[in-house]
Amino acid sequence: MEKTALITGAAKRLGKEMANHLASQGWNIAIHYHTSEDDAIQLRDELAKFYPDQQFALFRADLNQAEQVENLIPQVYREMKRLDLLINNASVFESSLLGRTTTEFFNRQINVNFRAPFILLRDFASLIKHGVIVNFVDTRIVTNQSSFAAYSLSKKSLWEMTKMAALEFGPNIRVNAIAPGLTLPPEEKGEDYLWKLAGNVAMKRPGGLDPILKSLDYILKNDYLTGQILFCDGGENLGVTN
Ligand SMILES: NC(=O)c1ccc[n+]([C@@H]2O[C@H](COP(=O)([O-])OP(=O)(O)OC[C@H]3O[C@@H](n4cnc5c(N)ncnc54)[C@H](OP(=O)(O)O)[C@@H]3O)[C@@H](O)[C@H]2O)c1
Repeated sequence: MEKTALITGAAKRLGKEMANHLASQGWNIAIHYHTSEDDAIQLRDELAKFYPDQQFALFRADLNQAEQVENLIPQVYREMKRLDLLINNASVFESSLLGRTTTEFFNRQINVNFRAPFILLRDFASLIKHGVIVNFVDTRIVTNQSSFAAYSLSKKSLWEMTKMAALEFGPNIRVNAIAPGLTLPPEEKGEDYLWKLAGNVAMKRPGGLDPILKSLDYILKNDYLTGQILFCDGGENLGVTN
């Protein structure tokens, strides 16, 4: 099997785990990053060492800048020669109530979390024409909680676009979403942060990376699945327990 995946925000955290996971299954990986250049180089070098017969390349782009996003799919296709899977993983996650959200703050969340996946998905459809797209949303999309108002709106929109794109781009392109819940703590916080929140969730524990990787595998294997969302959230989308 010779297959190539582009993962946005692949230098660290979920993106990096998915890069390692897919590489272990024989995928070539286009590693997109923005500020985490050292981590991205280290990941590329490690993957190249472990899997010398596969292709790993770095692509830097600020997803807040439309022109840089527009260059990304053509660049990856030119350099890697093929592209079969797009994972829209990169995201900004910043807290602000609706009433306190400035226009600049709003634009950043929407540009990185929604406009960039839109451009990449559109360009994948027009240039690549065949394959799979996975959009990372968030279990928060089922609530109207506004502590991360612009972030939540960007992810709600991304889920709506997932369904619209699945309908327009089938049967050659399948488009699905993964909605993580308590997966990794924010970089400045520890695991105890997730365990405290997990008390209110049906499964009573954080999920970690395993449910995400299993969901990714399921999406890739199930070639009749499109326009669907897989909640990897231990039931958080059902609401909180008493
Ligand atoms: N972690 C969780 O528990 C959780 C829960 C719910 C949903 N999710 C979703 O799952 C996905 C992965 O989560 P995560 O926690 O691993 O993400 P993350 O660490 O918050 O962000 C991933 C990457 O996004 C990139 N990024 C941010 N702004 C960018 C920009 N302007 N241009 C280009 N890249 C940019 C960063 O790349 P650089 O470092 O290279 O700048 C960053 O490493 C996200 O879509 C997130 O919303 C995660």
